[in-house]
Amino acid sequence: MKRNNFYITTPIYYPSGKPHIGHAYSSIFADVFARFKRNDNFNVHFLTGTDEHGLKIQKAAEKNGSDPLSYCNKISKTFKDLAIKLNLSNDDFIRTTESRHYKSVNDIWSKLIKSGDIYLSKYKGWYSVSDEAYYNSDEIIEKDGKKISSFSGSLVEWVEEESFFFKLSAWQNKLLDFYNKNENFILPVSRRNEVISFVKRGLKDLSVSRTSFTWGIKVPNNDKHVIYVWLDALTNYLSALNYPDIDNKLYKDFWPASLHVIGKDILRFHAIYWPAFLLASGIEPPQRVFSHGWILSGDEKMSKSKGNILDPLEIINTYGIDELRYYLMKEVSHGTDGNISLENLENCINSDLANNYGNLCQIVFSFIKNNCDNKILKSQKISKTDKDLFERTKKLTKHLRSDMDKQNLNSYIKSVIDISFLTNKYINDEQPWKLKKDNIEKMNTVLHTSLEQIAKISILLNPIIPIKSLEVIKALNIEPKKINLSFLDDQNILDDEVKIKNLDILFKKILN
Ligand code: MSP
Repeated sequence: MKRNNFYITTPIYYPSGKPHIGHAYSSIFADVFARFKRNDNFNVHFLTGTDEHGLKIQKAAEKNGSDPLSYCNKISKTFKDLAIKLNLSNDDFIRTTESRHYKSVNDIWSKLIKSGDIYLSKYKGWYSVSDEAYYNSDEIIEKDGKKISSFSGSLVEWVEEESFFFKLSAWQNKLLDFYNKNENFILPVSRRNEVISFVKRGLKDLSVSRTSFTWGIKVPNNDKHVIYVWLDALTNYLSALNYPDIDNKLYKDFWPASLHVIGKDILRFHAIYWPAFLLASGIEPPQRVFSHGWILSGDEKMSKSKGNILDPLEIINTYGIDELRYYLMKEVSHGTDGNISLENLENCINSDLANNYGNLCQIVFSFIKNNCDNKILKSQKISKTDKDLFERTKKLTKHLRSDMDKQNLNSYIKSVIDISFLTNKYINDEQPWKLKKDNIEKMNTVLHTSLEQIAKISILLNPIIPIKSLEVIKALNIEPKKINLSFLDDQNILDDEVKIKNLDILFKKILN
């Protein structure tokens, strides 16, 4: 991969029911990084899509009285529509039922056969259809007379069938070596530690084909077997780059992937199986797997099977998409789980968006409209207060790139909102409405400084609230294609003379 290229992916979603807020969270999280990197002049490829094979989907289709493909066509579209509603900036949407994906999975399978990493035997053990995962006996507990996985709480069933196996056990030390050499391959660190201690406890060979159902990609030269859905699904990240054509531009520019964003429930697949499959196939593993926590409702993971889901579309219709994006990114700490509620959403909109950033823009834009005919010429005289604001802002922006490089979005948002808070305070202290009477020169400096701050804050918030921040950016007469982060290297954004446009109210305060 060439420098300055950035390939980022969301998990591909099971089209087994209506998308919920947990899915929205994973997608928005990835979108924020895609947008941030684009604004920082990276060439970005952002992928999302649907994971359409396996028993879980076959059963969901049967329950709906449909054949699997027609069912997937319908539900995959709801995820594609959701991507639009969430304002995702994805460059591609892959479906694992597409022929480009079959080609790539067949190639990986053949490589693993050729390298001697796959052999035929018999699987006897536990399987969870809802997780599409095999579990060891020591990971199974009994609850209300039913066997469940202690890891996910999902029902498991006993399976005995002929199966191809991947020699995962042979990769244990090579994986540990790989984690060792690539310290930031798994983030946050707590997840990295979890994975390393799991691998150290010993890896068993992994069943990678099934014979008891048919909905999947057939094993080459053996029609009785379909390829295990996770080996199939993970390969999507390569299929979208036209793999196995490794000489094409997409693959050359974007592999290895820069960042796979995933939820913690699918960490094992991405941090253990995926690099092992790739190393065994002679392909370089991705650079980073970032595993975020769960959105909880009460104390439980929000999921269809638990019946405790919040519908993102309802929230968007009531509160707006930028408001939902901001709330999810700000309130849910990214490494750990987070509880969400409509009450917290409303408080967050009021405190950060309406009273802080929105208020700052409104005060400055309407004052300039009413008193300066929408034009401000910067004066050369800088006061100590102006310098102070500039220095404090610089201190807060200093760590933003490294925060984003470690997916530390909470710290990033906190710093940006602090800048907005500081700027509000600056306006209140400097009171341009009083300066208007006897110090026009200073008034102009205060207003120009405030506009410069608003420009910075808006560009920094752009990956999180793309629509509202763009309204401000356009009202500042900055061309959207000129958005970039070079001001982080100490440059100013605005010219000395600024002509602004009118700005409507950005965020309405929610009254209870
Ligand atoms: N199909 C697999 C992924 C294959 S990637 C090669 C899958 N799909 S999923 O639809 O079940 O989940 C997709 C993503 O949504 C996962 O990252 C999962 O962690 C995330 N979320 C689903 N429910 C969630 C919450 N309640 N909270 C946060 N994210 C959760 O897994």
